[in-house]
Amino acid sequence: MKIALTYNLKKKDETKPADYFSEYDSEETINAIVSAIKAKGHHVEAIDVEYPKLFSYFRKNSVDMVFNIAEGQSGKFRESEVPAILDYLNIPYTGSDTFSLALALNKTITKKILKAENIPTPNFQLFTKGSEELDPALKFPLIVKPNCEGSAKGISKANVVDNADDLFKRVKETLSSYHQEALAEEFIEGKELTVGILENGKTRVLPILEIDFSECKNSGEYFYSWKMKEYQGNRELGLVPVFHCPARLDKDVEARVKEVALKTHRAVGCLDISRTDIRLDKFNVPYVLEINPLPGLDPQESNFPIMAYAAGMKYEDLIEAIILSASERKGLN
Ligand SMILES: Nc1ncnc2c1ncn2[C@@H]1O[C@H](COP(=O)(O)OP(=O)(O)OP(=O)(O)O)[C@@H](O)[C@H]1O
Ligand SMILES: [Mg+2]
Repeated sequence: MKIALTYNLKKKDETKPADYFSEYDSEETINAIVSAIKAKGHHVEAIDVEYPKLFSYFRKNSVDMVFNIAEGQSGKFRESEVPAILDYLNIPYTGSDTFSLALALNKTITKKILKAENIPTPNFQLFTKGSEELDPALKFPLIVKPNCEGSAKGISKANVVDNADDLFKRVKETLSSYHQEALAEEFIEGKELTVGILENGKTRVLPILEIDFSECKNSGEYFYSWKMKEYQGNRELGLVPVFHCPARLDKDVEARVKEVALKTHRAVGCLDISRTDIRLDKFNVPYVLEINPLPGLDPQESNFPIMAYAAGMKYEDLIEAIILSASERKGLN
């Protein structure tokens, strides 16, 4: 097959906020995907989707499939930008479609769908102005997050608040720094889990990954904050989460967590691949925080490949599974 890999490249730019490029991919990730695609016998070219490179590429080249990891340029539909262009040009691509990508990027609308489907998700309130009245039913501590970001952008330990004053401070800060709505939700104290789903012929829930932050105490960070994600593995900073895959769970809890992730994947309409972030409360209820239809694919650092390796797959098998799943859907096999 002739495949184009569409991506946004992580850059260094001191004039931008520290988390500006956090969602984008590194050269190592792009090179690893290119090598994996080649190893499976395909022809591949990597295309930075920065305007207008994408247009000029597809004007000159025809491809059988796009392997899409592009996070998009800006705005709350950014992850749908490349798929929307590919839909218009009638070019098949891997992963979720324009609709599901835009939906999953909007945490609040996703949570409303999860609630309607009886999938547990933390109680929440959306703030658009910062002058709204606080819903008295919400129980502190709460965590404040930008409504449409990923890579934990805008999420620091100061965003976990236990009173209304601090809440409104963080809400206003989020509104002004990220130019978007602020979501406040109940903070679930308990195990951090993430669940990978991979479709290749049949839908497969990978071994659950548990991320344990207890070794990070000296850093002051205690959950998957932006700092934890950005500097993961940095011993000097003490940001050394321990990964357990499969997660240390009783069989019945494991089954419930997997079922909730699969229901979430289907409710949001994800295709080929997704990663659902979950927190277990003290009664072992799995609360879905969000679903990522474009999970990070860094072969060393990212959560998704760790789960694939635990399932006995090599990195190139993971990449090929995504391509095969998309090809089958598009009738290319
Ligand atoms: N309600 C919550 N209760 C407890 N911890 C939470 C909650 N919401 C978020 N967190 C913590 O913050 C992290 C980031 O939150 P979330 O997954 O919602 O953000 P994101 O930016 O979409 O992340 P990603 O990097 O997966 O795209 C979670 O992995 C978890 O550690
Ligand atoms: Mg997340």
